[in-house]
Amino acid sequence: TVEFSLRPRYLKEYIGQARVKDNLKVYIEAAKMRQETLDHVLLYGPPGLGKTTLSHIIANELGVQVRTTSGPAIERPGDLAAILTNLQHGDLLFIDEIHRLNRSVEEVLYPAMEDFALDIVIGKGPSARSVRLDLPPFTLVGATTRAGSLSSPLRDRFGVMSRLEYYTLEELSLIVSRSADLLGIAIREDGAEEVACRARGTPRVANRLLKRVRDFVQVQGEGIITAEAARDALDRIQVDKLGLDQVDHKLLRSIIDHFRGGPVGLETIAATIGEEAHTVEDVYEPYLMQIGFLQRTPRGRMATPRCYQHFGVENPQ
Ligand code: ADE
Repeated sequence: TVEFSLRPRYLKEYIGQARVKDNLKVYIEAAKMRQETLDHVLLYGPPGLGKTTLSHIIANELGVQVRTTSGPAIERPGDLAAILTNLQHGDLLFIDEIHRLNRSVEEVLYPAMEDFALDIVIGKGPSARSVRLDLPPFTLVGATTRAGSLSSPLRDRFGVMSRLEYYTLEELSLIVSRSADLLGIAIREDGAEEVACRARGTPRVANRLLKRVRDFVQVQGEGIITAEAARDALDRIQVDKLGLDQVDHKLLRSIIDHFRGGPVGLETIAATIGEEAHTVEDVYEPYLMQIGFLQRTPRGRMATPRCYQHFGVENPQ
């Protein structure tokens, strides 16, 4: 698909996250030099910043295959055992949302990560015994939006932990220009900047907005993305100057209008706007906190003075 082809495949094509990238480059080269597998890597940070992309890049740079799964997809220990025993020497196993693995599955992962071994219990009761199966050496890359929700035994088994940050405007503009080239749409620098400004620091959002702007520009415009064309298109799809969309607006307005600016509990907000609590927490809130619109307090979420200002509403507090 188009989406897939926008993803960079090697580190040299990957824009941004300079520190993470430079360090990974060294670890990958060292592992290759010693002909070892790369240590297990934990990638964490808000959604859409490139954790999946990076895992595929690591595999490409190492010249190995990727097997992809996710925390919620692995329901029972046997599911994980099946995946592990199907790995080939050196493969990269990518587990997305690794914080959502359940405890019994995690326990299978510990010896697998540490000793490339699978402990299988045979029989029941007093005659039960455990046999150890060797696994091929592999690299686990785990991705999570919250490193804090990982159990410490799991966290401790990652040799590399890399935190992805929101992208700068310059980085996002470069990504938008690169993607526009790949999509075959002409774009001016100011057009790329306009898309970047509203992409909430997130390449996934930038690429999605770019595709919508391209639709408008190709159907109703002049076939080139200028700042003005981008602004018109993004206004039409109701993404504001700060990149806030209808859901963000609903969330913030509900805190302001129904809860006098808070504090209000996460579950209450989620129910009010009809989203899942963990979606609100993982997807919407991190950026709203980053731009200083939302505060998490022990008593709940609060709208900040800056948030009131953005909506032109007088702050009661
Ligand atoms: N597309 C999505 N994320 C990207 C990145 N970090 N660099 C280049 N292209 C991208």
